Amino acid sequence: VRKYTVIIPAAGKGTRFSPFSLLVPKEMVPIMQYPAIEYIAREYEKSGITEIVLVINESKQMIIEYVKKVRKKSSNIRTVFQEKSLGLGHAVLQAHTSVSGNYVAIILPDDIIFSQTPVIQQLCKVSEKYEASAIAIKKVAEDKVSSYGMVAISQEIEPGVFIVESIVEKPLKQDAPSCYAIIGRYVLDKGIFEALSNITPGAKAEYQLTDGMNLLLQQKKKIFAVLFEGDHFDVGTPESWAQAVAYCAKNGGNESILI
Ligand code: UTP
Repeated sequence: VRKYTVIIPAAGKGTRFSPFSLLVPKEMVPIMQYPAIEYIAREYEKSGITEIVLVINESKQMIIEYVKKVRKKSSNIRTVFQEKSLGLGHAVLQAHTSVSGNYVAIILPDDIIFSQTPVIQQLCKVSEKYEASAIAIKKVAEDKVSSYGMVAISQEIEPGVFIVESIVEKPLKQDAPSCYAIIGRYVLDKGIFEALSNITPGAKAEYQLTDGMNLLLQQKKKIFAVLFEGDHFDVGTPESWAQAVAYCAKNGGNESILI
């Protein structure tokens, strides 16, 4: 059985949730009575992962207080600092010395997914079956593609599992290689760290995780895209956050749907 370390990058600027995020980390935004980070913690716990690396900065200390003091669960949580928000790829790279094993799991705390089986566990299963990287994808509307990393896929090797050919970060509508966007769950070959140390700033002048993944593909390492089961909300944007709250309220309060 593989042992995983989960990296949770939470050192972004959170501009879309400003001015709230100027004082409170957006990972602490409440969805019913729990902060967003609680749903993430439940996902890795239910997946049986106990090695956690949180990437934060000075302004995000409240997340540590919550997971260590309020939750008081027994996971081994380490903290790594990303002093400047230079991009998701850079944030992930800061955690590399804390990771053991040949694969690393990454959960973006902005993306909350209500599902029967935790999405990270759905990815671990595919990764273990094919001995390769696996990433979560979902279909998005044409006018939304410029907000995401969009995958070019070839063969569907089993229902809902595709071979990734390449990834285009935040393309224009006419340049999107498919209608499938990467959502914040990844199980990646540990070679991603070396790849990330070799990339230059890409889209938005930031070090992009997707550029590192493209390097892995160029090295002939396989990545599978998984059309996951679950209802996804990007709680890093106020509109989608409000929908997540409404979803919980409608489904009988979050106790009944917390995974
Ligand atoms: P986002 O693209 O949502 O960026 O990052 P952001 O800075 O958090 O939010 P906006 O765009 O300013 O509103 C996706 C994930 O990557 C992390 C974020 O914390 C988020 O979980 N991230 C991003 C970092 O840890 N460091 C970075 O430099 C950038």
